[in-house]
Amino acid sequence: MPPYPLSMSQAPHVEGFFDPATNTISYLVSDPRTGTAAVIDSVMDIDYAAGRITYDHADRIIACIIERELRLDWIIETHVHADHLSAAPYIQDRLGGKIGIGARIMEVQETFGKIFNEGTEFQRDGSQFDKLFEDGDTYMVGDIACFAMATPGHTPACMVHVIGNAAFVGDTLFMPDGGSARADFPGGDAGELYDSIQKVLALPDEMRLFMCHDYGPNGRDIRWETTVAEEKAHNIHVGGGKSREEFIRFRTERDAQLAMPKLIIPSLQVNMRAGEMPTDDDGTPMLKVPINRL
Ligand SMILES: [Fe+2]
Repeated sequence: MPPYPLSMSQAPHVEGFFDPATNTISYLVSDPRTGTAAVIDSVMDIDYAAGRITYDHADRIIACIIERELRLDWIIETHVHADHLSAAPYIQDRLGGKIGIGARIMEVQETFGKIFNEGTEFQRDGSQFDKLFEDGDTYMVGDIACFAMATPGHTPACMVHVIGNAAFVGDTLFMPDGGSARADFPGGDAGELYDSIQKVLALPDEMRLFMCHDYGPNGRDIRWETTVAEEKAHNIHVGGGKSREEFIRFRTERDAQLAMPKLIIPSLQVNMRAGEMPTDDDGTPMLKVPINRL
């Protein structure tokens, strides 16, 4: 294992908020001693057909933070999501906290800046975010030691955030019976994803793992928490020591059959701006649909 600073004796309080519209789990993570908190992968509600956004999901998290009198220090995105819109700025406006994402967001902004034909007013330097995490960067949630671990493959800027004995894996892994996330978006790479998953599986066996998504495979109830030991033993795509070659072959074949996520077009435009809506020339919030580009 590289020199990541593990802190397994520290156990944050973790609460998951499931969004049934996108099968995303947002997390409120807090240090029980100091009452300091982080929100990971928040969700803005959108009725895309109507072009209408609301904040019921984020409001549930905000209400919980207020009720428990927590201080919000961090609003973290594990990556630029393609299936839901972030509510990070909405939460920041109400409660403060720094919005952070992996430093390779700049590559993602470059790629999608082209696809969405953005002008020069769209900065490709990550400046929309308050903090750009590099691999191995450390930070604190109250007294709990945390670090960011680069896990590219699903997207270049993907990071797993380890907060005490809890790791928020984003879209590297799903629950053991769900396998892994796709690696075919622009900038994705199945081999890199395999290598990143091995980094997660090299964390201590008893590390708690929290998923960003769950689809309830085979009709089971939605679940989002597992452990490194469980993933190593049972993950249907990488468990039991599956080889890199096997994984790449399987992942590539599977991805070729997947349709684009329903909300990819609005999600990318908003999430590459740290959750802000793009606007047209006179400042009116407005989304684009690039034709035959995805
Ligand atoms: Fe994703």
